[in-house]
Amino acid sequence: MISKSITSKFYGDGEMLISDSNSNSLLSVDKITIQNSFKKKGCIIFRNFQTSDFSYKEFIDRFTKVYANDTNDTLRRKKTNISKFVRHVDAGNLKMSLHSEASFSPSWPEIVWFYCKTPCKKDGETTICDGVKLWENLSEKTKSFFLANPLKYKLKIPLFKENKKGVKKKWFINSVGSYDSFLDYKKGELNMCQIRFAVNEINHLNKLAFSNHVLHEKPYIDKTIQKWGTIFDKKIPKKIIEEVKKVSDKFTYFHKWEKDDLIMLDNRRFMHSRNHFNKNDSRVILNTQTLKSNFLNV
Ligand SMILES: [Fe+2]
Repeated sequence: MISKSITSKFYGDGEMLISDSNSNSLLSVDKITIQNSFKKKGCIIFRNFQTSDFSYKEFIDRFTKVYANDTNDTLRRKKTNISKFVRHVDAGNLKMSLHSEASFSPSWPEIVWFYCKTPCKKDGETTICDGVKLWENLSEKTKSFFLANPLKYKLKIPLFKENKKGVKKKWFINSVGSYDSFLDYKKGELNMCQIRFAVNEINHLNKLAFSNHVLHEKPYIDKTIQKWGTIFDKKIPKKIIEEVKKVSDKFTYFHKWEKDDLIMLDNRRFMHSRNHFNKNDSRVILNTQTLKSNFLNV
């Protein structure tokens, strides 16, 4: 197995593990070695391993204590026959904006996994930006703004089937920053507010990471977000967004997929997205979300 750096755009450069032979199973890679590398690098790409839909899931199981709620993305993501926790990535072929998966919700995954079954012929890269590097390159003025202004998201999350005779019921969510939650059985939705800082402590690195939905913009707006801004109900100043955009562009890595590549990404440190691709090109990438790992923050 060969170990390579991914890019100097990441703090610690990331790690690409390339198997010498495509007959080596992904399941043969030592778990502890991966855990230790992941804590430092936060992004590992596995390449040229022999894998399959099911061994991919078995591999992820080794690092997962709890998967993200499988109802989180039912509106957007197509199901697979592998597991209810393995879904296709978002539909569409246009460029998306950088985000940390579900950073606005109480179910904010620690790790996101992307597995490539069919790469694009052209474009369609997954783009990745390290929130540690991004934070370190923002101006003090912008950093001060995000340190003093937690974000507030008003959410409407579809959870179950509509019931015409349904009622509204208060719902307690035992999660920091979650409040005003109620279930609307008539509409089959959970309504709630979530407060969260845009910047997050990465304890095992003793660093801060800017990993959030601040750059979230059209054309793909998450329909669960009804409204967002600062906790004081103010929008983020345009100049600040522009600075974040400019600096993130500078530190974004474009991953050109090869068949069977697997990306393991620290979702509370890194943001990801997708480059545009030709709509006739067939691109099949699967996504799985580890809500709580069995080795980080334990
Ligand atoms: Fe995503």
